Amino acid sequence: MIRVGVVGASGYTGLELVKMLVSHKEFELTYLGTTSGDAMIEGLHPSLSGVITMNVKVATADGVAQMCDLAFLALPHKASMGFAKELIARGVKVVDLSADYRLELETYEKFYCEHEDRENLPQAVYGLIEYYREEIGKSSLVASPGCYPTATLLGFLPLVPYIDPASPVFVDAKSGVSGAGKKLSETTHFVTINDNIFAYNPLKHRHAPEIREKILKVHGVDTQVNFVPHLIPATRGELVSVYAKLSDEHLGIDPIAILKERYKNDPFIRIRTEPVDIKSTAGTHFCDIFAAVHGNGLFISSAIDNLLRGASSQAIAAANLMCGLDESEGLPVIAYVP
Ligand SMILES: NC(=O)c1ccc[n+]([C@@H]2O[C@H](COP(=O)([O-])OP(=O)(O)OC[C@H]3O[C@@H](n4cnc5c(N)ncnc54)[C@H](OP(=O)(O)O)[C@@H]3O)[C@@H](O)[C@H]2O)c1
Repeated sequence: MIRVGVVGASGYTGLELVKMLVSHKEFELTYLGTTSGDAMIEGLHPSLSGVITMNVKVATADGVAQMCDLAFLALPHKASMGFAKELIARGVKVVDLSADYRLELETYEKFYCEHEDRENLPQAVYGLIEYYREEIGKSSLVASPGCYPTATLLGFLPLVPYIDPASPVFVDAKSGVSGAGKKLSETTHFVTINDNIFAYNPLKHRHAPEIREKILKVHGVDTQVNFVPHLIPATRGELVSVYAKLSDEHLGIDPIAILKERYKNDPFIRIRTEPVDIKSTAGTHFCDIFAAVHGNGLFISSAIDNLLRGASSQAIAAANLMCGLDESEGLPVIAYVP
């Protein structure tokens, strides 16, 4: 068995990781850590009562390195890179769920903070499974993509070659409240979000440069990404709508056929002929995609579970590949609700 640990186990994505790892056939959960530590995991997450009983420690790189071959870092950005640097130095493979290793140095320092691990950053592989499978399989440091970039890129990348590169792209995204993590705030307070929907950080959100950078990396096209995220009164789930202008020579394309062809060997991408919804992917690793054209207008709709395909199950899929296992081992496929 491969020994794995979760740092940030008391958080939302940490819980999802633990839920999948307890029944994973090849990974053995040997370490759980947070800042506050010294608790029982089932005490932090009552949903795990009777499923697992395990002590949660105050997370240290030493502690992880002694107990693990691979570690998942479900930590806020900045907190992750300190750990990753130490763990990589001790030969532990790392899958990071934060933004610390997703971007080029310049982009990261412009939109986040000073990078504290410039040595390992260039070696990090972007964990968008359907685009970097081979590189992930050879890597010891994977940066799991952000939830909004995951849904946007999986829907948009196959159709980028057909758009007018000089025209701006608009991305309208809607996420359940768990996308913000467990820390309390007025914005995520029940009274604020219930029966409500509103944009936040319009055209200024940090996932826009991530989307732009990855489109440039995959297609060499530098698109202006106008990204507007919204909060919706749901616990989990993410719906992304992309609006773009087709180039004149591509007015007659069949986007569904293009998407089906691109993802014909990707079992966790479902191309729909009707607009997608968040309920059908809640609790699963699936990404559901729909697209349509009208004149020179292109519309793409992509739905995922922000905590799974947008975070923890994508991280597990990457870890499976890093350890030479079947990519789908331990990934959830049954949606929670009818
Ligand atoms: N939520 C999503 O949908 C989503 C999607 C994609 C990516 N992500 C990324 O995944 C990461 C985790 O997100 P989350 O939603 O799970 O956050 P969260 O619910 O706020 O949990 C954060 C966890 O990190 C721990 N922590 C914080 N600072 C720490 C430190 N310095 N050392 C050790 N542990 C520390 C916390 O432990 P304590 O309880 O002890 O404070 C907690 O367990 C973030 O970088 C986030 O951007 C989240």
